[in-house]
Amino acid sequence: MGSALPLGEPVPSDGSLPPGVRTDPATDFGVYLHVPFCRVRCGYCDFNTYTSSELRGARQDEYADTLLREIRLAADVLGSVGDLRPAQTVFFGGGTPTLLPPGDLARMLHGVREAFGIAPGAEITVEANPDTVTEGVVAELAAAGVTRMSVGMQSAVPHVLAALDRTHRPENVRTAVAAARGAGLDVSVDLIYGAPGESLDDWRASLEQAIALQPDHISAYALIIEDGTKLARQIRRGEVPAPDDDLQADMYELADDLLGADGFDWYEVSNWARGDAHRSRHNLSYWTGADWWGFGPGAHSHVAGVRFWNVKHPAAYAQRLAAGESPAAGREIPDADARVLENVLLRTRIRDGLPVSELLGEGRHAVAALIADGLVEPRDALHGRIVLTRRGRLLADAVVRALTP
Ligand SMILES: C[S@@+](CC[C@H](N)C(=O)[O-])C[C@H]1O[C@@H](n2cnc3c(N)ncnc32)[C@H](O)[C@@H]1O
Ligand code: SF4
Repeated sequence: MGSALPLGEPVPSDGSLPPGVRTDPATDFGVYLHVPFCRVRCGYCDFNTYTSSELRGARQDEYADTLLREIRLAADVLGSVGDLRPAQTVFFGGGTPTLLPPGDLARMLHGVREAFGIAPGAEITVEANPDTVTEGVVAELAAAGVTRMSVGMQSAVPHVLAALDRTHRPENVRTAVAAARGAGLDVSVDLIYGAPGESLDDWRASLEQAIALQPDHISAYALIIEDGTKLARQIRRGEVPAPDDDLQADMYELADDLLGADGFDWYEVSNWARGDAHRSRHNLSYWTGADWWGFGPGAHSHVAGVRFWNVKHPAAYAQRLAAGESPAAGREIPDADARVLENVLLRTRIRDGLPVSELLGEGRHAVAALIADGLVEPRDALHGRIVLTRRGRLLADAVVRALTP
């Protein structure tokens, strides 16, 4: 399911890193735990996730034990290239992590704690589909140490949810947010804009309802039409219109206006938080070049400059680990040019910006032109940082979408 994995060089069956690689004790370490199960697939989504009919023998009830094997393997691999570092952030993503019993998520978290340690004050997030969250589930997760829940709201407007093929009941968003808040968790909601048939007023209604839930954090993503999805087929056959770039740009501006007016600050192109303390530290670690290990089928990792990724199907993943082998399917070490480009693309997405000093000569000369074009904030540039204006953010998002295979 989902898009193909990149090519790359093979990884030894014990998962060891290339000779000479050492981890830096001063670099933060984060953990991503992928849960590749969904009850139904939403029409727009190409994430590496599987419904029960697509599992080819992989068992959801054995998933936690399988993943715990990868955690032990990772501890061996990392322990051989430096001191183990406690996780500063842990993120259960999916798929739908809350399709598993909370006890399974708690066991995986315990495995992370035993293998690496979890830093005091760590951010521990669980992504949730609103239909799978109850007070009981949230209470168990909070007792296990979860600090944050991210709820997939997407829209508050029935015809938009239908266009997205979402099956969750809109009223369950309110219940899920209330349950998470009641258990003392930080709460985020995800929204998508630009669905077929969605008007600017529809989007305004979704934003207003999301704000009325008083979450700590809101992600608002421009709908991407991913190849191979049901939505892409519907658009190709002319059954529904393709997203309109100008309308999506207006929707972005409306989100930034309404969220800003309600006390949410943008800190990444698609993410707004009610104050710095509510930013997603885990996602920031992706944008700022920290080390992380992604566990689970199809998960990607980044350790000491090496990128590697796992086999995609849960059955292949389980087979590898049952045989005592690493589930990694390939790896690459980006060269210096690729790193510079990646650093620029990632760091300019965030409000903290890219230090001008990290640009090479040519790039530095381009800053004045970017300011003149209204893409870079002049005041931040004077203080040595490249921070995008709203117009710059819209362009940066379009560029990343165009570059993403
Ligand atoms: C793993 S899902 C969140 C949890 C849960 N599976 C759910 O959907 O309710 C991660 C988020 O990615 C976003 N997303 C997925 N596919 C997308 C696409 N094609 N375009 C834009 N956003 C997308 C959605 O906002 C979704 O909430
Ligand atoms: S529930 Fe979430 S992960 Fe699953 S198909 Fe829908 S958007 Fe994708």
